[in-house]
Amino acid sequence: MLPSLLFWLSSNVVQGRRIAASTCPAPEPAGYPAPVVRDGYEARLVATGLKKPRSVIIDSKGGLLVVEAGKGITHLTIKNDGWPCLSVEKTTSLVSMSDLNHGIELSADGKTLYASTSNSVYSWPYDADAISVSNEKSPKTLISNMTNVGGGHSTRTLLLSRKQPGILLASRGSGSNIDNGATDHSSGISQIRAFDISDPNLGSPGSKVYDYPSEGWTIGWGLRNSVGVAEEPNTGGIYSVENSADGIKRFGVDIHEDSPGEEMNYHGVLRVPSSSSSSDNQEGGGNHGYPYCLALWNSSTTPSFPSLGELKVGSQFTYDSTPYSLPYLPSPETSPQAKPINITTSDTSCSDNFVPPRLTFPAHTAPLDIKFSHSTNGNNNQTLAYITFHGSWDRSNPAGYKLSAVVFDSVKGEPVEASDSTNSLVDIMWNQDLSKCPGSCFRPVGLAVDDAGGEEKEKRIWMMDDDKGDIWVLRQVGDVNSGSGSGENGANGDSDSAASPMRMVMKRSGAEWFGVGPFSVVVAALGSMLFALL
Ligand SMILES: *[C@@H]1O[C@H](CO)[C@@H](O)[C@H](O)[C@H]1NC(C)=O
Ligand SMILES: *[C@@H]1O[C@H](CO)[C@@H](O)[C@H](O)[C@H]1NC(C)=O
Ligand SMILES: *[C@@H]1O[C@H](CO)[C@@H](O)[C@H](O)[C@H]1NC(C)=O
Ligand SMILES: *[C@@H]1O[C@H](CO)[C@@H](O)[C@H](O)[C@H]1NC(C)=O
Repeated sequence: MLPSLLFWLSSNVVQGRRIAASTCPAPEPAGYPAPVVRDGYEARLVATGLKKPRSVIIDSKGGLLVVEAGKGITHLTIKNDGWPCLSVEKTTSLVSMSDLNHGIELSADGKTLYASTSNSVYSWPYDADAISVSNEKSPKTLISNMTNVGGGHSTRTLLLSRKQPGILLASRGSGSNIDNGATDHSSGISQIRAFDISDPNLGSPGSKVYDYPSEGWTIGWGLRNSVGVAEEPNTGGIYSVENSADGIKRFGVDIHEDSPGEEMNYHGVLRVPSSSSSSDNQEGGGNHGYPYCLALWNSSTTPSFPSLGELKVGSQFTYDSTPYSLPYLPSPETSPQAKPINITTSDTSCSDNFVPPRLTFPAHTAPLDIKFSHSTNGNNNQTLAYITFHGSWDRSNPAGYKLSAVVFDSVKGEPVEASDSTNSLVDIMWNQDLSKCPGSCFRPVGLAVDDAGGEEKEKRIWMMDDDKGDIWVLRQVGDVNSGSGSGENGANGDSDSAASPMRMVMKRSGAEWFGVGPFSVVVAALGSMLFALL
């Protein structure tokens, strides 16, 4: 049969491995066309039919622990018959708990599992061999009081530091689009906070539970909704990606289409303060501007950005809802740097008082995760920060809906691109037709990177799609060159947009989607000729 033959030849030659085609059918994306993958990457759909898979973490045995929002935590045993023949062998419900909605972490020894609701962070003892947790129905509560009154952003992203073992970061967004509660540091709103969870008694009956707003310490604040949080593996710098405000006007002009930009913020290297009032706290810990100031993305759109002045990409500006009348209530930790907002100085007060983004991304693209990975392209000084963009709703032309990467200098631990760059994203996987989004598009959320048992070149990127209920896996097989990033207009803007689509291999029963490199295309063509001869 032609398709099987093509598939077998492509896989066999690319991977130098025999793969029995009949054991390796990929599920089909339901209701959306095959996505496009960058040349140098391969992608494959591994699982479908999950309930809002948001975040994922890999356990010590290579199992996937997936948060299905509104359901709980599900363990997927992955059958690996050699790339790309990855499939789900077994599905096990680990924690049945309907208010788990996004955050998940695993201790470095793999024996404690953490997950969050909109209010609390819980933990369970976890056994990767038995695929089970203890005390499923009565976890420890480690942190509480994260609920936003009146609802609003409900995810509480978790990050366990690998540089400072025992320190857990939890990110809490705003209660509404412009939440003036975030101006008061003591509210805990729109903050990333860190907690020392190394005490084994924490959360035991009758023992300490952290109060989110008042305990731990500040990694950053003035962050509208920073859903992705990660630790740069070389320097230990903490980076987050922020979802910025909707429907913004400035001096009466509606500028929402292309500003504010989404942000990547830098919070310094994680430090554990010796006391909450000490001066050796987080080197960052600063206020990133929300809700007083937002970051400029594109000033050249119509209508053009009013009173541009000296503002450039990433500069923070005031807007019609800037809460001038509300005092900026600094944190006790950062009060030495804090000054009251001077309402008459407008944009100047933004640059005087707040930490600008390290990078700015197109408006409303909705970055939801960031995961670092050493690039496998042979340049040891290069690290990639993979970022998922869930996609826009507050824009006439849809934007985002893709997996991208930011190239980091791993020696310096910072992005290669300058802070005013409009070219910092290298797109990895995207939808063919943005005008069909969100309906007929994949919408990525959580990521995990694993190395399939230690081999650097076997590194895989797992990606959740909460809208379609899918799990994708990708692998880097070639170079990623900095500077060929995407714009957000049109299809993709990068030179490889047409280079290596997910090739469609037709089968009588349907289609298989499989990303292949140029070499295997040649092989596949040869395969067709061979088939014609047969
Ligand atoms: C949560 O907040 C309430 C009201 O301020 C307080 O009584 C309670 O002790 C807090 N919970 C924790 C774990 O600190
Ligand atoms: C900014 O908007 C203009 C006008 O729509 C467009 O030509 C340009 O490519 C945009 N720039 C970026 C970086 O998106
Ligand atoms: C506020 O800004 C105005 C205009 O720049 C300046 O004259 C005034 O001194 C500033 N006030 C404070 C308290 O800094
Ligand atoms: C890596 O960084 C070091 C120190 O900055 C530099 O000396 C070296 O040339 C770099 N190597 C590559 C492959 O860029």
